[in-house]
Amino acid sequence: MELSRPRGTRDFLFYQMKQRKMVENTLKRVFESYAYQEIKTPIFENLSLFTQKSGEEIVEQIYYFKDKGDRQLALRPELTAPVARLYISKLQKSPKPLKMYYFGSCFRYERPQAGRFRQFWQFGCEIIGGKSPETDAEMITMAAHSLKELELEGFEIHLGHLGILRGILDEVNIVEKDQDHIMGLIDKGEREKLLKFLTKLKIDDNTLKILLELIAMKGNPQIIGNLKKILKGREKALNALQELEELLEYLEILQTDDYLLNLGIARGLDYYSGMVFEIYVPSLGAQKQICGGGTYNIIETFGGEKIESTGFAFGFDRLMSALISQGIDWKVSPVADVFIAPISPKTRKESLKIAQYLRLSGISTEVDLGRKKLKKILSYAHNRGIKKVVLVGERDLKQGKLTLKDMETGEQILINKDELLNQIDVLKK
Ligand code: HAM
Repeated sequence: MELSRPRGTRDFLFYQMKQRKMVENTLKRVFESYAYQEIKTPIFENLSLFTQKSGEEIVEQIYYFKDKGDRQLALRPELTAPVARLYISKLQKSPKPLKMYYFGSCFRYERPQAGRFRQFWQFGCEIIGGKSPETDAEMITMAAHSLKELELEGFEIHLGHLGILRGILDEVNIVEKDQDHIMGLIDKGEREKLLKFLTKLKIDDNTLKILLELIAMKGNPQIIGNLKKILKGREKALNALQELEELLEYLEILQTDDYLLNLGIARGLDYYSGMVFEIYVPSLGAQKQICGGGTYNIIETFGGEKIESTGFAFGFDRLMSALISQGIDWKVSPVADVFIAPISPKTRKESLKIAQYLRLSGISTEVDLGRKKLKKILSYAHNRGIKKVVLVGERDLKQGKLTLKDMETGEQILINKDELLNQIDVLKK
């Protein structure tokens, strides 16, 4: 029997789960402070949900299968398309804007390497029916706020606008499908293939020059002046630039100023239409992108109304790697606050009773289930980082007493059984 894990998957042990839970809880807290509500969608969906408008690269990476009813299903590679499906089927009539967040695993058949897995987790959000640019500004601010709350250092927010690139391509009559392909090549940094494709499309030299210049443009908001000059006469692109400028004003209002404009951001998924952003942690190396998102039009593509939608997703695993390599002090709480140790077999039942009483009083308590000798119990409790052990002795118990041992100082005190039960709060310290 094959006992190894499938390639590109991982197991998470206790301490890793505690760290992941802490990050998940922080993200939940921040997202909820912006009035987002959690949703959950299935791990698998109909394959067609992802083949319509997700992009060539993602479609190639989909894990798909036929079920016993001959239906074509896919493990979700991302969650924006499922959320759009959910919106169209259940939420179109809800008051707008609709703010939703999710945390779940995604599957992509990629070549596994550091930071790139076949099963990975996304913590993301979508807002449907908000008006740009304040919606976009609030969302980018929430992403930055989350990372600050997690005390992540050295992250870079790169902000672009696909309306500029698509605007230029629209005006020279490049159809959407070819535009999507162009975005994919820009996203992957395939310059040679991009040049070849643009030449094949017979794009005029001036437009070609402008496109290449644009996708290499990075800098602070001062580059906008330069951009205006480059885009002179290209109305659609200039309108998108105007939108981007307004977004920057709102970002300033929300005190988010630590970003870089990067017109080369094209995103790897086809549904984006306007503002796009990515967050990098350069110390992670090749898989440095910990977050990606933007405004998109997938709902209309799926047959829903034309409605403004924006979202992003953190790559949770990459975020964890960045925090771990930074040496965050996790302050992980021990497995339990108290350990109840029966000293003799005759006090076993009473020990279980005491343990249960403490649990019902809100104190996490472990009791010896291994019928171990005291020495082994103490070393077990020590290894689990438990700070207080209650020794339940037969003679003590007859006199209504218990021994409370402080595992850090080694100090032992004899207390009344009632006193232990009354001093529950002291144990928590
Ligand atoms: P994405 O950029 O494809 O966007 O994925 C979001 C994040 O997931 C990436 O920035 C990256 O950190 C992480 N990620 C992607 N693939 C892998 C992998 N194989 N292993 C580990 N981490 C990975 C989306 O999926 C969009 N749905 C985001 C969005 C939400 N846009 C609008 N709303």
